[in-house]
Amino acid sequence: MPKINILSEDVRNKIAAGEVIERPASVVKELVENAIDAKATAITVIVENGGKDLIQVIDNGLGMEPDDAMLALESHATSKIRNVDDIVHISSLGFRGEALPSIASVSHFTMVTRSADLDVATRIEINDGKLRDVQKTSSNPGTTIWVRGLFKSLPARRKFLRSETVELRHIMKYFHYQAIIYPNVSFKLIADTRQKLNYIASEDRNLRMSEIFGAGFFQDDLIQVSGQNGDYRVDGYIFGLEERQDKLIDAQYVFINGRFINDKTVKHSIKSAYEPHISKTRVWMKGTTPPYILFVHVPATQIDVNVSPHQKMKCVSERTTWCIH
Ligand SMILES: Nc1ncnc2c1ncn2[C@@H]1O[C@H](COP(=O)(O)OP(=O)(O)OP(=O)(O)O)[C@@H](O)[C@H]1O
Ligand SMILES: [Mg+2]
Repeated sequence: MPKINILSEDVRNKIAAGEVIERPASVVKELVENAIDAKATAITVIVENGGKDLIQVIDNGLGMEPDDAMLALESHATSKIRNVDDIVHISSLGFRGEALPSIASVSHFTMVTRSADLDVATRIEINDGKLRDVQKTSSNPGTTIWVRGLFKSLPARRKFLRSETVELRHIMKYFHYQAIIYPNVSFKLIADTRQKLNYIASEDRNLRMSEIFGAGFFQDDLIQVSGQNGDYRVDGYIFGLEERQDKLIDAQYVFINGRFINDKTVKHSIKSAYEPHISKTRVWMKGTTPPYILFVHVPATQIDVNVSPHQKMKCVSERTTWCIH
């Protein structure tokens, strides 16, 4: 992992920031994104009580050396960007240097991390933003983070968390997005000692798709698409002529440069492309959209991920503006 730096005031002022932690799924999102940015090939998430009591994320990524491990918990500390110019071509998922300190300020937070270059790991414990303990310890290379009692010291925010089932559903939804985008990473989710999901790493995306959606994924109506125009590329899967009864029915996913996006303009364009075909079939009712899973790749300079986490993120190209999550 490149060394961590505290961003200068100048860079900080150009970053659109905001509260990123709203519920257990946001913690899972931030920690899993960190693991992916750290080039982990295996990520395990363990949760208890829908993540309200415990969220543990174990990765086998690059880990951190002791001084970086301490710095990582400071606000505006990141290894992913350095200066203002970096903001316009962000290729990592994170870049604000805010997630870890935000999580540690609203939970009992423990991190054990080890870079493969060193024999020793660092263990840091923080309770509601206060540093409690720093120790040397032993562990495999990579990083494990435990987040216990999210918002316990902030009853007004804890109160807004939903039932275990609902919170777990949010976590699983997010987990699926990551599993779809990164088939080369193994993902395991354990909830209250029960294994919920276990996806094996594979270079073959088709394999991951059938792991997630079941063998029914490759029905006759699946069309694998792929197209390129200069530096812009789209590939993925479209479906349509058969009515689906399986879990794919609600799968209308678009990912841009490795991020899930939910944007009206993009959805509308896809729907318009489908429309003439849909009307010819008896099965799909007008107004509904068959499933699709599309991966769009655009040059990093053409996408603006630097908007407030509360807004939908903007993707700006010369002619289009998309909103992304
Ligand atoms: N699992 C991990 N493995 C290795 N390094 C990590 C891991 N998690 C965090 N780090 C390091 O700690 C830094 C701070 O992480 P944090 O998530 O707070 O910020 P970020 O990922 O840089 O930006 P953002 O706030 O947008 O997520 C990262 O830039 C990275 O260098
Ligand atoms: Mg991060």
